[in-house]
Amino acid sequence: VLNRLATIVRSQHVLTEPDERAGYEIDWTRRYRGDALAVVRPGSTAEVAQVLSVCNEGSIAVVPQGGNTGLVGGSVPRPDRAAVVLSLARLDECSIDAQHGEAVVGGGVILESFQEASRASGWDLAVDLAARGSCTIGGMVATNAGGEHVVRYGPMAQQLIGVEAVLADGTVVGHVPALRKDNTGYHWAGILAGSEGTLGVVTRAHLRLVAVLPARVVALLGLPDLEAALAVTGKLRRTLPELNAVEVCFADGIDLVRSVTGMPAPLSQRAPVNVVVETAGDDVDLLVDRLGGAVAAAGGMLDSAIASTEADRARLWRYREAHTEAISTLGVPHKLDVSIPFDRMLEFERRVRALVSDAGAQLVLFGHLGDGNLHVNVLGPSADDARIDDAVLDLAASLGGSISAEHGIGIAKRSAFARTRSTAELDAMRAIKRALDPRAILNPGVLFS
Ligand code: FAD
Ligand code: MLT
Ligand code: ZN
Repeated sequence: VLNRLATIVRSQHVLTEPDERAGYEIDWTRRYRGDALAVVRPGSTAEVAQVLSVCNEGSIAVVPQGGNTGLVGGSVPRPDRAAVVLSLARLDECSIDAQHGEAVVGGGVILESFQEASRASGWDLAVDLAARGSCTIGGMVATNAGGEHVVRYGPMAQQLIGVEAVLADGTVVGHVPALRKDNTGYHWAGILAGSEGTLGVVTRAHLRLVAVLPARVVALLGLPDLEAALAVTGKLRRTLPELNAVEVCFADGIDLVRSVTGMPAPLSQRAPVNVVVETAGDDVDLLVDRLGGAVAAAGGMLDSAIASTEADRARLWRYREAHTEAISTLGVPHKLDVSIPFDRMLEFERRVRALVSDAGAQLVLFGHLGDGNLHVNVLGPSADDARIDDAVLDLAASLGGSISAEHGIGIAKRSAFARTRSTAELDAMRAIKRALDPRAILNPGVLFS
């Protein structure tokens, strides 16, 4: 099989030596790892189709991988089943239609490279996230990535005009370029978004873009508690249509980021809750006035800082964006990503703090407050001890929340997924999986055990 794969992609793109494979076999969190039979790097849709056809014939498991920044263990082989890692990094072509604000982008294009190219032509992808330097467009489609601007523009699924994908047996489906309006039959982009590499390999995406907004303003608000932060969020959402982001972090997270980065305190006093707010539009002075006015009118703040220059904005964002890396310096985190109904958020915060403290573990909370999405990071329990994961996810579900707001299920959340969706829904999802991948070669073990 490896010889056949080498004929398709050329032998330099079939990596079999342990040191060549190593980086593809362990995930970003270091919690998940498994052995790759080989890492195969196709350079075109046709090559992806031929590779999958060969693997399907031999019932060989295939793990699609983009930037390997996923946080739920879905981008690396499972410990119990060796697999071919299909790296999509060479699918890196991209064409931007600067007249109509659309782009056709290869699945392996890195988000930051795409941002540079599209911004130069006056357009932007509405989804942005801190992993931008490594995550790929194909991975973002496959995980239906959320990020920092969901409050304004929605997640990746909402940016898709169309996708091209390869099914397990090598069949190519979907139209790229697609039409802005096309209501004929099942919508492949909708089926593939969030499917986490279990239904098909995304080879190209046709994206809708938004106009670059030249002016941006960022504020960091220091608040006494989450209740005050939720009240301010509601007021800002009502009064500022230009609101781009509403993110939350807590005093212990800011302390941790400061200890890792050496940054100074962001505000004159240490606030229990910190909210990062961004607005974007045409006129920076107007944005400063409007955000400043809205913050003053909202009231309840201990202190606040506002930034309009690029360097100052980046500095305020760093307190929030550096959380993920700073947390990883403490050990291998249990990363739980829940969404909670706004009216149960305070109860969730109180109960999750008690739960983690009773387990003798350390908690770092942060997240996308405008979306009701909290990232629950737990440090202490060993990587293979899932008791705290189950307890936190069950708590979220018991309050009417979701066990995954944006990261997906992967292998990390599959038991909670099985517990929190109805048997009828799970059966319907398995039926879709069986129809598109009857030999179950695509990312086996992800979503379903
Ligand atoms: P990978 O990690 O390589 O893969 C992720 C999943 O998609 C796997 O199941 C894989 O099999 C599948 N896959 C990858 N490429 C393809 C393809 N072409 N076709 C089919 N399946 C494929 N996520 C958010 O939603 N919001 C955030 O704000 C956010 N911030 C992050 C910040 C940091 C610092 C880090 C490390 C991660 C963050 N993430 C966030 C998680 C991650 O970046 C996203 O899930 C991202 O979309 C993954 O892209 P990737 O190319 O790295 O995919
Ligand atoms: C983020 O919002 O920064 C992420 O989703 C990453 C994380 O949860 O650590
Ligand atoms: Zn996030």
